[in-house]
Amino acid sequence: MTPKHFLDLASQTPADLRAILDEAHRLKAGGGRPRPRSAVLAGCTLAMLFERPSTRTRFSFDVAMKELGGDTIVASGAEMQLGRGETLADTAQVLSRYVDVVMIRMLDHDGLVGFAEHAAVPVINGLTRRCHPCQIIADLMTVEERLGPLAGRTIAWVGDGNNVAATFLDAARHLGFSLRIATPSALALPADAVAEARAAGADVSVGEDAHQAVAGADVVVADAWASMGDEDEDRRRTLLAPFQVNDALMARAAPGAIFLHCLPAHRNEEVTDSVMDGPQSAVFDEAENRLHAQKAILKHVLGKLGE
Ligand code: CP
Ligand code: NVA
Repeated sequence: MTPKHFLDLASQTPADLRAILDEAHRLKAGGGRPRPRSAVLAGCTLAMLFERPSTRTRFSFDVAMKELGGDTIVASGAEMQLGRGETLADTAQVLSRYVDVVMIRMLDHDGLVGFAEHAAVPVINGLTRRCHPCQIIADLMTVEERLGPLAGRTIAWVGDGNNVAATFLDAARHLGFSLRIATPSALALPADAVAEARAAGADVSVGEDAHQAVAGADVVVADAWASMGDEDEDRRRTLLAPFQVNDALMARAAPGAIFLHCLPAHRNEEVTDSVMDGPQSAVFDEAENRLHAQKAILKHVLGKLGE
């Protein structure tokens, strides 16, 4: 039987996304400090492979797995025989003999898909150049806890048409919110990806005007101007300067609008200190929600939702 992978949001069902979000809220609501532990994943081990740096993804998955009673192993590709040329396909088959679930951060999305095709256990995407599905579960959870149901809300993406933007586009197919994307034309999401999302039900507009995208929006989202693997930082800084999220831009959003950023932030580049640290910022709740979201995703792929 094919394992239940979590590689992107477009291929999830709306019902599964709803169930993951509901579980994440339920787990958060049940946990003060110290958070209660459960044994629902006792006997299960998560392997985490990082080909790129991480703070949130690494720590939140590790804590999530342990609070659910499971174990973790973390390694970088360079520490493994992957770094000496062992194939992803062989690595997937070997790890499947040891662990119950694998989370991978690697830029090459096709490589991740290939790994998953050869894995006998669920594989979770911990960020590729194509998308960052775990992040957007946490982001949508944050929107729901701050503003209530997603349906009818408007989310404005401002900046680079990157992996995180693409994941909002994937989610917009399924969850009933409107997405407005403002990017420089040179950094826009691929037109075919936008067309495909629209055909699959996403309510999305794309343009180059940040003020227009943010006008009346309930949520304003920014991300780094250069993602991991991008090498044209100077060019990007020039192209993206008009897309900085600052007080003037936030003033155009709806009253009560919130600001999200997956972090790490480059303060006073894509977002000013005043917005990051201001009353509309939900970025540290968003970071915390990675933990609750990871628990829900782990339970989902291991068939333990609701347990
Ligand atoms: N937002 C996010 O994925 O952060 P890390 O790169 O620190 O994991
Ligand atoms: N878009 C960023 C997200 C980091 C969590 C990157 O890919 O580097």
